[in-house]
Amino acid sequence: MAKLNSEANEQAVTTRQWIGLQTDLPRLDCELALCQILGVNRASILAQPERALSLLQLEELDYWTSSLRKDIPFAYLSGEQEFWGLSLNVSPDVLVPRPETELLVESALSLLKRNAQLLDLGTGSGAIALAIASERQDAQVTATDVSAKALQVAKQNAEQLGITVNFQESHWFKNLGGTWQIIVSNPPYIDPDDPHLKHLHAEPQHALIAGEKGLADLREIISEAPAYLNNKGWLLVEHGYDQAEQVRHLLEQRGFQAVTSHKDLANIERISLGQYIYE
Ligand SMILES: C[S@@+](CC[C@H](N)C(=O)[O-])C[C@H]1O[C@@H](n2cnc3c(N)ncnc32)[C@H](O)[C@@H]1O
Repeated sequence: MAKLNSEANEQAVTTRQWIGLQTDLPRLDCELALCQILGVNRASILAQPERALSLLQLEELDYWTSSLRKDIPFAYLSGEQEFWGLSLNVSPDVLVPRPETELLVESALSLLKRNAQLLDLGTGSGAIALAIASERQDAQVTATDVSAKALQVAKQNAEQLGITVNFQESHWFKNLGGTWQIIVSNPPYIDPDDPHLKHLHAEPQHALIAGEKGLADLREIISEAPAYLNNKGWLLVEHGYDQAEQVRHLLEQRGFQAVTSHKDLANIERISLGQYIYE
């Protein structure tokens, strides 16, 4: 990260003026880019709008803004993303954890019994598993992914945060043995023909796209989960904004009870869940 250069190298552009020039980018992204380049926090950017930017800093900012205009997520440029109050390392090998996924964490925590086991399928950066384990040291949390590179990122996050999670490489349940009180998953669920995908080109496509109009992985997880759940165990899955009804139907068809969906802050049914009771 660049340090402030000598006065001789400084240009007449101030941070306030520079932000004003980026009319097509969110103001917050611009402020955060300034934080990264100047090595200061946001309060400092807001408190000192007349700080002059050097030529080198302007060049570095150009790189950030042109990347953002190409839909490179801010988190890939900074290398980190906050999730559930945890600072997570992210790289293009993992999906950038989204704030709406915190609903899955919140719902799982409300159902998790004391000293119980929880499984997070398709953990990516480790976001969901680490958030839950950070809240509940009594829980035994296992997290899997089919991508070895994603698991490396997740393990590094667990180490840096000092949180214990058991990581395992697996295609959904394939390499797993045992049963869990709770299984959570935010699997790929985007229809390959979804026009929004072009804005997500920088993220791993295998983390986003699923066949059968986005339902293939959800269907596989729902179909196999009962064999890996304790009696009265819960499966909670995140899905697309328009998939709640189909996912509830899949859960009910597979014999889950108390099937319901929860809405996110935007009032969208974002996760669905059900309980499996052995006959
Ligand atoms: C939508 S991302 C979710 C990542 C993370 N849980 C989160 O919420 O930020 C889906 C994850 O599932 C993983 N995945 C895709 N197919 C898989 C499979 N067949 N078995 C296990 N994991 C898979 C991807 O590598 C990716 O990390």
